[in-house]
Amino acid sequence: MTQYWTDLVNRLTPYTPGEQRSGSDVVKLNTNENPYPPSELVLQAIADVSPDSLRRYPDPQSSELRKTLAGYHNVTADQVFVGNGSDEILALAFMAFFKGKAPLQFPEISYSFYPVYCDLLNITPHMIPLNSDFTLPLTQLGGKCGGIVFPNPNAPTAIAVNKSDIEKLLQNNTSTVVLIDEAYADFGAESVIDLIDRYPNLVVSRTYSKGRSMAGLRLGAAFASAELIEGLRRVKDSFNSYPVDAVAQAAGIASMGDETYYRETIKKIIATREHTTELLKAQGYRVLPSAANFIFVSPPDRDAARLFAELNKEDILVRYWNNDQLKHWLRITIGTDSEMKQLMAVLNKLHSHG
Ligand SMILES: Cc1ncc(COP(=O)(O)O)c(C=O)c1O
Repeated sequence: MTQYWTDLVNRLTPYTPGEQRSGSDVVKLNTNENPYPPSELVLQAIADVSPDSLRRYPDPQSSELRKTLAGYHNVTADQVFVGNGSDEILALAFMAFFKGKAPLQFPEISYSFYPVYCDLLNITPHMIPLNSDFTLPLTQLGGKCGGIVFPNPNAPTAIAVNKSDIEKLLQNNTSTVVLIDEAYADFGAESVIDLIDRYPNLVVSRTYSKGRSMAGLRLGAAFASAELIEGLRRVKDSFNSYPVDAVAQAAGIASMGDETYYRETIKKIIATREHTTELLKAQGYRVLPSAANFIFVSPPDRDAARLFAELNKEDILVRYWNNDQLKHWLRITIGTDSEMKQLMAVLNKLHSHG
């Protein structure tokens, strides 16, 4: 608290990212990073970035990258927006479509950045409780509100909803923006990008941090009607004209040219996820059905806080939220087979010691 900060800054509770501990012995399963490197084509494109393109400002509209993403997703370039990670896209979308409107609906258990943006932008949150099995009660969303946002699959539960159910929601809610955060859709959810032509109030955000292994580069995209994309551009150009640097633009373009590689890595992650789920269930863990690159698990004695601390001592980092609703649960990112083996070995050791 200081007299020099504004009242707003004095009362903010910022988002707390997962710990970025480094070291060769650390098994890092706490921030949903991809355990595999980006495609060789991406590394080559980064190496090929010319001194001139570093000396100059990047293309403020990322035209080539947007054209590439449009071609990939079968939309037009004016239906694509790119930003410095999808966190930035979400922040710009909250400013463009939700600030100053009626309360914004999102699930009570969801991406913890949504309430932070609401706080920053003075948007009233209207949180919708999940069903008791942690599924999203889609039919309870909508009606009188200033907009709707949720991740599909949801985070941290990892549970996905069907495209047909999202379409019903869109049919019933045409007057405010519906923002679907598809950060983890590559790992098993049905995308709704192909619905943007039919629903001019639909925004789909995507990240290249997870499925495309580029969390360190910071690249996200939004797909929507040209009218909504223009809204995002107006906010961006009132804030930061060059959010996507020249290196990220080149790498983003290259990443869309190596589909075979990404399909393989995603397939491996899904196989590891299913295997880990089986092993944990056999040990009495509750594991929610995951369509993401992480699993949400509750240990047999439900003491997730203790397990989190014990794993941490063994240099195995997972995510834990110390609040009433989530205190019995851990979110575990799917790593390589070898990392998951290390996790299982430590869990076996901890359980055998009681
Ligand atoms: C649901 C969800 N949306 C968006 C993001 C932001 O991803 P990025 O800013 O790396 O694109 C994350 C990151 O963890 C997330 O979990």
